[in-house]
Amino acid sequence: MTKFNLDGKRALITGGSRGIGFGIAREMAQAGADLVLVARDPARLRQARDELEDTGRSIGIRSFDLEDVEGIAALYAELLDAYGPIDILVNSAGLTRRGSAHQLSLDDWNLVITVNLTAVFALCQAFGRERISSGSRGKIINIASLMSDAARQDNSPYAASKGGIRQLTKALAVDWARYGINVNAIGPGYIHTDLTRSLWEDAEFDQWVKARTPMGRWGTPEDIAATAVFLASEAADFITGQLIYVDGGWLATF
Ligand SMILES: NC(=O)c1ccc[n+]([C@@H]2O[C@H](COP(=O)([O-])OP(=O)(O)OC[C@H]3O[C@@H](n4cnc5c(N)ncnc54)[C@H](OP(=O)(O)O)[C@@H]3O)[C@@H](O)[C@H]2O)c1
Repeated sequence: MTKFNLDGKRALITGGSRGIGFGIAREMAQAGADLVLVARDPARLRQARDELEDTGRSIGIRSFDLEDVEGIAALYAELLDAYGPIDILVNSAGLTRRGSAHQLSLDDWNLVITVNLTAVFALCQAFGRERISSGSRGKIINIASLMSDAARQDNSPYAASKGGIRQLTKALAVDWARYGINVNAIGPGYIHTDLTRSLWEDAEFDQWVKARTPMGRWGTPEDIAATAVFLASEAADFITGQLIYVDGGWLATF
């Protein structure tokens, strides 16, 4: 299955220290890619690197808070210097602030939009500039959400940020197809990670997810990771501007 391997590629994965990003990191390393992982907590990054050692790939780590969007261009230049060209960008870092729209503050709104949407744009821009100026192809994979399409109560900034990711993915795909840069997104269903801890620890919500999802269970980071490897590989060279839902059928029913 050579079309699906990532030998000789380097992937930058934001949020690669935990959850979905870490699942993607493991699968991409197993497919042959070297990695650079970016997140805030240095101890968790070091742990992720240790846990990936058995893949035999080079694993770079860099602590950085993506809320600092003005610093992203310099961060990217530093990573290029330290590790070399990056062929694949996975934007998985993300967060939420929950609460009814009339109770949330503008600070909540700004934080979620900054990390989930503006930082993704800034990283794509840094990646696109380097790929275009060096005449190299590239693959971008943005992590979207069910809330790129549907809304759930108490999540307005998150839903707006993920709706933005859907459109940003299409817009960048159209801008950069001529340069051989594919831009796609994955929309995970309900996935068992730290981000959803308060949800799966709530017995009633846990039951609701299992009943509402046709596959009858929470997803895992591994469920998302294989799709990310496919989109990063040569097998997906003619796919761009798509949002692929990996949701156990959640959006197919009501
Ligand atoms: N879990 C789900 O059900 C689900 C469903 C749909 C979409 N998603 C999306 O999938 C992505 C990953 O979610 P997850 O469930 O894997 O979350 P998670 O387990 O909470 O992991 C989030 C990752 O992002 C990093 N991160 C968070 N804020 C950051 C910041 N300001 N700067 C740099 N890194 C930051 C975290 O590391 P540090 O905390 O150390 O920075 C961590 O590595 C997110 O975009 C999320 O919206 C998740």
